[in-house]
Amino acid sequence: MRIGVLTGGGDCPGLNAVIRAVVRKGVATYGHEFVGFRDGWRGPLEGLTKPLGIPEVRGILPRGGTILGSSRTNPFKIENGVERIKNNLAEQGVDALVAIGGEDTLGVATKLHELGVQVVGVPKTIDNDLGATDYTFGFDTAVNIAMEAIDRLHTTAESHHRTLVVEVMGRHAGWIALHAGLAGGANVILLPERQFDVDQVANYVEKRFEKQYAPIVVVAEGAQPLDGQMVLHNQELDAFGHVRLGGIGQWLAEQIEAKTGKEARTVVLGHIQRGGTPSAFDRVLATRLGLQAIDAANDGDWGKMVALQGTDIVRVPLAEATRELKTVPLERYTEAEVFFGS
Ligand code: F6P
Repeated sequence: MRIGVLTGGGDCPGLNAVIRAVVRKGVATYGHEFVGFRDGWRGPLEGLTKPLGIPEVRGILPRGGTILGSSRTNPFKIENGVERIKNNLAEQGVDALVAIGGEDTLGVATKLHELGVQVVGVPKTIDNDLGATDYTFGFDTAVNIAMEAIDRLHTTAESHHRTLVVEVMGRHAGWIALHAGLAGGANVILLPERQFDVDQVANYVEKRFEKQYAPIVVVAEGAQPLDGQMVLHNQELDAFGHVRLGGIGQWLAEQIEAKTGKEARTVVLGHIQRGGTPSAFDRVLATRLGLQAIDAANDGDWGKMVALQGTDIVRVPLAEATRELKTVPLERYTEAEVFFGS
């Protein structure tokens, strides 16, 4: 078989580990041939390819980003998008696709599968918000980066007796904020799943100061105050209808400063959370998902996504994986609340 591989959506540490595992096992065990499609769905849409064989995947296991490039191209928003993809696959002699991506990329894969394209999906997102899989690779790396930042911010916050607000990624799901906040000993954690009362946040901050320690507040970019709205970078929508978030951390620091009379500053971690080398956990998870994805393709088990359930890598229908986002359950948040303000 000749198999096309693509990576779509926001980049994520571990993408290259998946590509490497797919190609290494695909060539060595099954004798398949590969072609890389550039920049997510833009590749098959515009026929943009690059060679993808054993030499191309040598040395990429620890490398962040994706050797194939990525984009948020949505072929369903482009005239004759599906037809163009089908024609380009036929022209390139490509029998099937391995699509590595999050909710949007796999949403496209789901629809293409329904329209007759042979595709297997691999879940990726630092946000860890895809259904049907317990963890996505990239999440562990992002949490470790955010935790290390919080560790460092504790000492500078203490020295200056100020509040430090750390804004982390997480549009609709606060997994990064929750895990980095717990691991880093934050004094308040704010998630998109639960609107927060800014007076209560100021109260937690005061309580922490009373104990002669400086507060660290971790806020997910999608968190919202009660009766408030998400803070947007601008009003533009991407091809999947997403707004660009950013600014809640700054807004919150201003509120805390005004309500407590003590200095508050903000650190926005942004793309630092997505860049660089994957953690050992993510390398292993990405590699195992890649191995299972090529097994599924070799079996002709189309329309499936490979997923981590417990300690096993399993296959689930793509449609199931993209049906709903996996958000933080209330009990996980309540668990963390015991540390707030203390
Ligand atoms: O979905 C991954 C993610 O990193 C989100 O946490 C974040 O909201 C978004 O991508 C940012 O995307 P971009 O880098 O395209 O602005």
